[in-house]
Amino acid sequence: MDLGIAGKVALVTGASRGLGFACAERLAKEGSRVVIAARDPERLQRAVDRIGEQQGEAHGIPADIATKEGIEDLTAQLKEKGLEPDILVFNNSGPPNPTFEDATDEEYLIAYQRMVMAFNWAVKSVLPTMKERRWGRIVTLGSYCVKEPHSELKMVLHNLIRPAAVGLSKTIADEVGEFGITVNTIGTGTIDGGDEESTFRINYRKRAAERGITFEEMKAIRIEPIPMKRAGEPYEVAGLCAYLASDLAGFITGQTILIDGGKARSFL
Ligand SMILES: NC(=O)c1ccc[n+]([C@@H]2O[C@H](COP(=O)([O-])OP(=O)(O)OC[C@H]3O[C@@H](n4cnc5c(N)ncnc54)[C@H](OP(=O)(O)O)[C@@H]3O)[C@@H](O)[C@H]2O)c1
Repeated sequence: MDLGIAGKVALVTGASRGLGFACAERLAKEGSRVVIAARDPERLQRAVDRIGEQQGEAHGIPADIATKEGIEDLTAQLKEKGLEPDILVFNNSGPPNPTFEDATDEEYLIAYQRMVMAFNWAVKSVLPTMKERRWGRIVTLGSYCVKEPHSELKMVLHNLIRPAAVGLSKTIADEVGEFGITVNTIGTGTIDGGDEESTFRINYRKRAAERGITFEEMKAIRIEPIPMKRAGEPYEVAGLCAYLASDLAGFITGQTILIDGGKARSFL
């Protein structure tokens, strides 16, 4: 299937590993000219090299996309290199994990900055070019909790901030639709690519230790309510991302599409 995005410039933030990397890798396989942004320059370079080994085009720009200055600097570098994006895949590390009673004011603000303000800055930076070209795709990696809130402990900031980002996303979709730009969110469920350094594995090891159980036991508890009886794989998220970023998905906008193995109990 030709997704119609060969030669398009795709900026994927938070993409030196995990879900962001999988999306970047997939877009490069579709012939897009991929730019990946993340903070650690060495890991970023390894990610660029991996895509290069598969004959894909990838450029790495070290950037902290959770700050306005970081996004402004990234935007300036993209312009300088002639890589103004047709496609933005916005990914960032998730919010902190306190309980409601433990959450500090500062943690609320960190969550808001990472999930809402950073998304807002990133979208504003790519819109002028997309509007001029009258074509654009914006895809955010979010969470299934926008349709069914997490019931486990320490997820207050996820349950609060992820829906706020979707509210922003839907509003932007309304404003930019007439320019041929779509804005959608991927609501990921439990995804484990096996990377020991991933936030998923670090958090689950921590949660397992708190309960006095192993990582595998902790993962089994999380998987039990999933109809598919397994965690998802990053390449599966990447497939959905590539489709939403494609020319074929031009009439899908303002949506949150879940990829959670059937876990969320909402009808829609
Ligand atoms: N995995 C799951 O089961 C799951 C489920 C629901 C939602 N999610 C959400 O999906 C997103 C990605 O998850 P993941 O498991 O792929 O995470 P991950 O393995 O921890 O990867 C995060 C990526 O983002 C980069 N990054 C983090 N903060 C950044 C910043 N301020 N500026 C630029 N780059 C930054 C990291 O590189 P540097 O550290 O070098 O910057 C890394 O490349 C997160 O928001 C997570 O909450 C994941």
